[in-house]
Amino acid sequence: MNLISIILAAGQGTRMQSSLPKVLHPVGGKPMLQHVIDACRSLDTSNNVIVYGHGGDQVREMIESSGAQQDLSWAQQKEQKGTGHAVQQAKAHIDDDAVVIIAYGDVPLIKADTLARLAGQLNNDSSLIVLTTILDEPEGYGRIIRNQDGRVASIVEEKDATDEQRAIKEVNTGFIAARGKDLKRWLSQISPDNAQAEYYLTDCVSLAVAEGARVDAVICDDPVEVQGVNNRLQQAQLERAYQLLQAEKLMRQGVTIVDPSRCDIRGALMAGKDVLIDVNNVFIGDVRLGENVTIEPGCVIQDCQIGDNVTIKAHSVLESAIIGNNCDVGPFARIRPQTVLKSNAKVGNFVEIKKSTIGEGSKVSHLSYIGDTQMGDDVNIGAGTITCNYDGANKFQTTIGDRVFVGSDTQLVAPVTIEDGATIGAGSTITKDAPENELTLSRSRQITIKGWRRPVKRKQPESNRSEQNQE
Ligand code: UD1
Ligand code: CA
Repeated sequence: MNLISIILAAGQGTRMQSSLPKVLHPVGGKPMLQHVIDACRSLDTSNNVIVYGHGGDQVREMIESSGAQQDLSWAQQKEQKGTGHAVQQAKAHIDDDAVVIIAYGDVPLIKADTLARLAGQLNNDSSLIVLTTILDEPEGYGRIIRNQDGRVASIVEEKDATDEQRAIKEVNTGFIAARGKDLKRWLSQISPDNAQAEYYLTDCVSLAVAEGARVDAVICDDPVEVQGVNNRLQQAQLERAYQLLQAEKLMRQGVTIVDPSRCDIRGALMAGKDVLIDVNNVFIGDVRLGENVTIEPGCVIQDCQIGDNVTIKAHSVLESAIIGNNCDVGPFARIRPQTVLKSNAKVGNFVEIKKSTIGEGSKVSHLSYIGDTQMGDDVNIGAGTITCNYDGANKFQTTIGDRVFVGSDTQLVAPVTIEDGATIGAGSTITKDAPENELTLSRSRQITIKGWRRPVKRKQPESNRSEQNQE
């Protein structure tokens, strides 16, 4: 079957009050339009035609920057004259023998399964399938008019409807499926002869019926799946609905999510067995968690791979890092891109690590900055250690061997190497390489001044006292 989709995305989205075109606003960290494209793509569509208008260049740029393009086509609708007119702009891309699904770019939660059901209903008997849903408050939607046999006879827009028709609760979601040849024939017959002087795509229904063809409906049970976004309130509602769906999927896979309403996944999160995700965590991009991982409250984790038996303690921020098995990170740690923590490593509170490897079993427990560093195994970095990797113009490497002990409050001025087994005395500024297994330190010697006394407050003469007090 040659399946194609036409995705309507020319609407201006005025009610978003935004300079970003509506369909580019995100749900779950991904543009709404991209959700719809992805749903269509998972049906193996040979072509997905996006009808764009308002902010078209921006729409194309953003969608084209996100990957493969060979199955995307673009059709411009310069003036918005209705949904029928929008589909007409894509005519050149509609093959006669194709099964065409028409989707809306601002309905991000549409499921591939539902689109498959829609296309699957097209058969020798039916030549047009409309996706409908039942709403308690159908205001604003096109109503589904059925004949005495219960067959779909037409769709009437709210503005053209009689009071009796307005009472109907089955509404048009806008998604339809038809064969290319039929669709093109109906499109050429649509006229803007209605209350809004628009070309209604929905007129295809009555045109098909007039030809003696059968129109069927697929009813979507979950109105949220087919809800469009017109303003930021609806965007937020769908965001929560989407997050809940993702949380449910993970919980069914065995992940403990302490409060599904306080878990945000803006990308793809994969998790092994016995993972616990506490409240208020945000996962961005591709995040993989191994088995038995605990994410304490308030972390932001972006594009990371985290091994087994890891605890990410509260309020840590991790980006593009690889965390080995049995590691501990945080609380309040910042792990920046290109950081690798080998197994059993520990990074503690108020530690920032950038573009560095921390060896097996090594510990950076408190208040340190480690940047551009290659660190060996079983190293202990004392509190307040700083790798001075930047001279204001260039970045330099620090190399630390195995079993090194760095005393607290030390600066390692890169480029510098601390060899295996070296010990660095606390408070040192290390500018030259420190040799293997020796103690190296740079610090002024401690002296004691015997008999020294602390100054005491001088007694002041009576006359000066008031002036001094004004200080
Ligand atoms: C449309 C349907 C209505 C249905 C409702 C569901 C028609 C005539 N009406 O109404 O039956 O209940 O959707 O939400 O089809 N668009 C364009 N170009 C245009 C007009 C619209 O690309 O000229 C796009 C919009 O960007 C949007 C979609 O088509 O993605 C729907 O447009 P909208 O104006 O929201 O349609 P409604 O009038 O609400
Ligand atoms: Ca609408």
